[in-house]
Amino acid sequence: MSTTESEQDLLSQSATFGAMTEATPLDWKIIAAHNRVFANDVAGRVLDHLRLLDGDCGGFSVDRLEHSVQTATRAYRANKSDEYVVCALLHDIGDTLGSYNHPDIAAAILKPFVSDEHLWMVEKHGIFQGYNFFHHLGLDRNMREQFADHPAYDLTVEFCQEFDQPAFDPAYDSMSLEDFIPAVETLFAEPKNSIYINESGQMAGSEA
Ligand SMILES: [Fe+2]
Ligand SMILES: [Fe+2]
Repeated sequence: MSTTESEQDLLSQSATFGAMTEATPLDWKIIAAHNRVFANDVAGRVLDHLRLLDGDCGGFSVDRLEHSVQTATRAYRANKSDEYVVCALLHDIGDTLGSYNHPDIAAAILKPFVSDEHLWMVEKHGIFQGYNFFHHLGLDRNMREQFADHPAYDLTVEFCQEFDQPAFDPAYDSMSLEDFIPAVETLFAEPKNSIYINESGQMAGSEA
């Protein structure tokens, strides 16, 4: 039986256990095969979720999808790396689910795929963006100062000041979301950090 046939064979089956303690190695081969197919399109699902921001203005003059694409466009035009640009594109993807902690959602999605510095930048951008508006709401605009000694402090200041805070301009000539799809697909093609990566550096169960 060829590898392809074996993979097809696994994909035609479902595990039979009702409790994980009853699972067999074959059950997990079947599940791993299905997961390989499913994980292949994580980029597509992330982009679908990003599109949920379309039309949601939240009181701003542009909707959150335009804000996301505009932030990414500004970073791209400043010659930032593809990884940085994808972080810029996705930094507010959590707005739909994380009304009170949206940066944590983007950070969780990006965590397996980006550097520690970029991850920190995304995770902390809410606090750093606060420099531009917290004082209008009775909050401390200098909340970011608690991180003054962090190695990614300047990176995160730059992200918020140069790319995030100006990206509410209805007149800005943003690129299209489609322009960023190849970079998103490339970034999400291979996780760098995951508890499911084995000692050989491969995703557990990656071989049929
Ligand atoms: Fe944000
Ligand atoms: Fe933003």
